[in-house]
Amino acid sequence: MRLARPVVFGNWKMNGLRAESLALAGTLAERAVRLTGTVGVFPPFTLIHAVAQRVRGSGILVGGQDCHEKASGAYTGCIAAPMLADAGATAVILGHSERRHGLGETDALVRAKLVAARAAGLLVVLCIGETEAEYLAGARSARLRAQLDGSLPEGIGPEGLVVAYEPVWAIGTGRTPTAEEIRATHGEIRELLARRIVGGEAVPLLYGGSVKPDNAGEIMALADVDGVLVGGASLDARSFWTIYQAGGGA
Ligand code: PGA
Repeated sequence: MRLARPVVFGNWKMNGLRAESLALAGTLAERAVRLTGTVGVFPPFTLIHAVAQRVRGSGILVGGQDCHEKASGAYTGCIAAPMLADAGATAVILGHSERRHGLGETDALVRAKLVAARAAGLLVVLCIGETEAEYLAGARSARLRAQLDGSLPEGIGPEGLVVAYEPVWAIGTGRTPTAEEIRATHGEIRELLARRIVGGEAVPLLYGGSVKPDNAGEIMALADVDGVLVGGASLDARSFWTIYQAGGGA
């Protein structure tokens, strides 16, 4: 599946009850009259089915925020990739920093989840990003390379894969790297993917971390930035849509 630019994905995280979330989804579906780019929303598991129904026919993708590495089994409280697909999801975010750092997910676990998600036919949004300590120590490139090496299965193709660069220190903080840092980092990630995956230079690259309506245009105008992964600002239809339009989407 080739994703039209800009690719603008909203990670709702653990936010929203049914009424407000369906209202948000409904407003987005109304605005998505004829999408020129790619828009996706990633609600909590409990709302995937209802949101997918609400946006049906609009072209807006719906995805999960995580999945288990096994297709089924005795894993209390977990959600498998085929379950996401069954609920109407066509995508999943994997390796988000709130799971890597908050819940101790390793690169090896993210890789196993990625294999499971692909087997279920889901588009994978693989998140990578350095911590503030790594950033300050000049270890960003090494960290990103290690995360890509560890999270991408051998022999994987570029189809159905999106990589989101999200510096941990920029998530939910209102701080972002400079435009030049984002451009340079995305260039590095593009090269790493081209070396690691046959056709890897075609993998869409998203920037994430404190993307707002007022910085989205500058970020998405950068070379090697194909779109953005938005947290907080995706919970408001107007902000989210303004971000999408700032990237040239209609
Ligand atoms: P933020 O979150 O936009 O609220 O910084 C981004 C993310 O975690 O994907």
